[in-house]
Amino acid sequence: MAIQEDLDAHYTVMDKIFRFSVGEKGAYSCARFDGDYSLSLEEAQDRKYQFIVDGCQIKKGTKVLDIGCGWGAFINDLNQRGAETTGVVLAKGQADACIKNGLNVRHMDSKDITSATFGKFDVVTAMGSPEHLCSVDEFRQGKQDEIYKTYFNQVSELLPIGGRFYCQTMVFGPKMVKFEDIPFDKTDIWKDEFTDEELMDIMCRIFPGSWLPYGKEGIIDPALDHFKVISVDSGRLDYIETIKRWSKAFVKPNLRKYLYYAAITPRYLLSPSFRAFIRRWKVEATLAVFERLVFEHYRVVFEKVKD
Ligand SMILES: C[S@@+](CC[C@H](N)C(=O)[O-])C[C@H]1O[C@@H](n2cnc3c(N)ncnc32)[C@H](O)[C@@H]1O
Repeated sequence: MAIQEDLDAHYTVMDKIFRFSVGEKGAYSCARFDGDYSLSLEEAQDRKYQFIVDGCQIKKGTKVLDIGCGWGAFINDLNQRGAETTGVVLAKGQADACIKNGLNVRHMDSKDITSATFGKFDVVTAMGSPEHLCSVDEFRQGKQDEIYKTYFNQVSELLPIGGRFYCQTMVFGPKMVKFEDIPFDKTDIWKDEFTDEELMDIMCRIFPGSWLPYGKEGIIDPALDHFKVISVDSGRLDYIETIKRWSKAFVKPNLRKYLYYAAITPRYLLSPSFRAFIRRWKVEATLAVFERLVFEHYRVVFEKVKD
């Protein structure tokens, strides 16, 4: 599982730039365009929330836990619908921002959530956080299946029979490369063209401590001891569009952002590791792995059927 340091290296480092570009409580997971690219990113995120609300039958007073709540986008939406929300997030920058913005969010590792400390929920959601459940080292040690089984046992323990769990996550796609062919930490990030294997190396550096499930089976099969699948669909094309919209948002001018860019310029000039960090983002590996089918993305509504 990614530890706080891994998550901070991604989410806390980009905290200000994300909030200044996408919004204080912006969503950092795939939106739901469903092929309608005339929608704005915000409208497509709202469409996703409506889909989850309908799929999980969330109403006024429904008790919802959002695991890995980011900057609190979904719980903020649910608060306006009168649901009772709790968010948990491990990246410090995100937790601080959520708490500052008045959301009911705890800074903690989701693996420590139990019904003994939180009580039961009617609905649990996880958007993007399942991407960090298994680390590269744990995958190497053959622990991936066991990790997902433990995770679904945990989510099941938080829900009554009939309770729903919405889970959306990147997974490895049909063109995923062989693990042993990935040149871990060796890719020259300053060149222009990359093989799929090199893109995987770059992705592992953008998201340290994180390795994905293999296909939709990778996330559905370990759930079946407790859950049945209500709906499942691919969000790969939606993710491609979402990433393109984020890229535009990051360069769209606004005063707060440009003051921030000005403040970090000395660090950019003086620190080779910071320049490499920015370069890895500019390669747009996340977009390329979806376009090349190395990555897929699934959105699953589960219902608990067994303790
Ligand atoms: C891709 S982001 C998605 C954020 C949010 N769900 C959204 O849709 O905007 C993944 C989130 O999972 C959080 N996360 C990852 N592993 C976690 C863990 N073990 N405990 C708590 N939060 C975690 C990260 O800090 C990050 O906020």
